[in-house]
Amino acid sequence: MERLLRIENVTQKFGGLTALNNVNMHVDKGEIVGIIGPNGSGKTTMFNIITGIYRPTEGQVLYQDEPITGMEPYLISRKGLARTFQNIRLFSRMTAFDNVVIGMHARTKTNMCDIVLHLPRKRREEKECEERAMELLKLVDLYDVRYELASSLSYGHQRRLEIARALATGAEILLLDEPAAGMNEQETDELLQIIRRIKELKKTVILIDHDMKFVMNICERLYVLNYGVLIADGTPEEISKNQDVIDAYLGEDDE
Ligand SMILES: Nc1ncnc2c1ncn2[C@@H]1O[C@H](COP(=O)(O)OP(=O)(O)OP(=O)(O)O)[C@@H](O)[C@H]1O
Ligand SMILES: [Mg+2]
Repeated sequence: MERLLRIENVTQKFGGLTALNNVNMHVDKGEIVGIIGPNGSGKTTMFNIITGIYRPTEGQVLYQDEPITGMEPYLISRKGLARTFQNIRLFSRMTAFDNVVIGMHARTKTNMCDIVLHLPRKRREEKECEERAMELLKLVDLYDVRYELASSLSYGHQRRLEIARALATGAEILLLDEPAAGMNEQETDELLQIIRRIKELKKTVILIDHDMKFVMNICERLYVLNYGVLIADGTPEEISKNQDVIDAYLGEDDE
């Protein structure tokens, strides 16, 4: 078992608001871990800290035992962490295929000199890129629509394309912020299957959701936030019986 990620005593304050209060979490290689909690409980803030968008007020994030706290997002991405956002962020006027290829650019090492001096290598890299993109499009079941514009894809397909693009960076850990939000039941089922395939590739997944049913189905372990405080962690079975969790959810106004 390899401990990939550690969140140690992380506190995030925004002015007078404590969005995260002394939170500890860890994720091992190959796990699917969920972060759940009502609206405003600090879930996305945790992703923003892990991916370098925010530097926490206190505490540390370690990836493979190395502190990455407050490192530039592109450097963290190069280390092997990739995310999707709560609201879709695709290049809408590009094809599905091109959106995936763009995700790879964090990884390929060609520059202008290379292009002139090493054309064969460049071509080889391009070919590899293309093949890899096709594999990823198959993985998320978008191969048949690979040359369609991202904007013309259905909502569920766009969400899956974002996942393929994040994987294209070569990421070891994939952070998905409410990947099933707004999906109908069939789209959610398809998403579950895709996340299972990603696990088969030995990737690690951290996903946020406030739909208990969805996370219980897919996650091996869960962390529960409420008003920035970690109120529980454990297996889905343990969490579903936890009184603090039940209270936090019953206290929530249904959207
Ligand atoms: N940049 C910011 N500046 C000020 N306050 C912020 C900022 N980002 C988040 N917050 C606040 O921090 C709290 C936690 O927000 P966060 O987005 O992490 O919640 P969440 O659990 O992802 O909620 P949701 O389920 O609605 O997506 C909220 O009260 C939010 O308004
Ligand atoms: Mg959020």
